[in-house]
Amino acid sequence: MELQMWKEILNPYDLAVDELTVKFNHMIKEYQRNGMYSPIEQVLGRVKSISSIIEKAQKKNIEMDKIQESLEDIAGIRLICQFIDDIYTVVDLIRNRKDMTIKSEKDYITHQKASGYRSYHIIVLYSVETISGTKTIPVEIQIRTLAMNFWAIIEHSLQYKYLGNLPEHVRQSLNVSANAMVALDDEMSEIHDEIVDSQNFYLVKANIVSDILGNIQNLYKVANKQEIIRIQDEFYEIYEEGDVGKLDQFNKQLDIIAEGYRAQALN
Ligand code: GTP
Ligand code: MG
Repeated sequence: MELQMWKEILNPYDLAVDELTVKFNHMIKEYQRNGMYSPIEQVLGRVKSISSIIEKAQKKNIEMDKIQESLEDIAGIRLICQFIDDIYTVVDLIRNRKDMTIKSEKDYITHQKASGYRSYHIIVLYSVETISGTKTIPVEIQIRTLAMNFWAIIEHSLQYKYLGNLPEHVRQSLNVSANAMVALDDEMSEIHDEIVDSQNFYLVKANIVSDILGNIQNLYKVANKQEIIRIQDEFYEIYEEGDVGKLDQFNKQLDIIAEGYRAQALN
């Protein structure tokens, strides 16, 4: 197939990966802005390279003109989570979306592969608008924890290096590390609530501080210098104390001061 032809075929996949990367990243942002813990930690996306597509088609005896209907992972999104529970939260989020429909799913977490591989796979059908019309294409979404991702990347590169024929000592080492990956995720689940609590606490504080700084910046435009200096000093003092309740209280006072200036300006 000519290169130009490939570019045309891959165009909607490229758009789908771009769009979905933006959408999932925006979910993270939405959680953060609301001071909430995000079940997604990181979003990765890629379009399969032409050489990998050809290689896979040859291996699976797929004719070139059947590639698009036979390969479901030309567009791929990987969602990395902190905890196993988050993976199922993300699966539900995907299930409830109106812009994609689930075609199939595989739970390699409860059904770990013989290789040791763990992840949750969903194939969704997703529509993009191109200059030649609407195209609905499959996208493979892999959802995994940081530990699962780490293991999968190492295993994949070893498979690649040894062309799929892993020496016994490497195979054993991968088995041991697969068990370690499961143990780590299980251990993390145990302390999940505690970790989420501390992260939430940090996020709430970060949001209040960002609000306060915004408020002070606005007051610069209207308040007199001395008052600004007094407010800033007070802020530093409370910030050093590190009491979130006091920071929140202080922020509310700033809101009242700002409101006072607004009322003055209207008069
Ligand atoms: P493919 O022919 O690979 O698409 O197999 P499939 O259609 O049965 O899909 P499956 O869900 O098994 O795997 C899809 C993708 O998951 C692969 O392309 C890999 O990215 C990943 N994957 C599956 N099994 C393994 C594994 O044992 N090790 C690693 N590192 N990745 C895997
Ligand atoms: Mg596949």
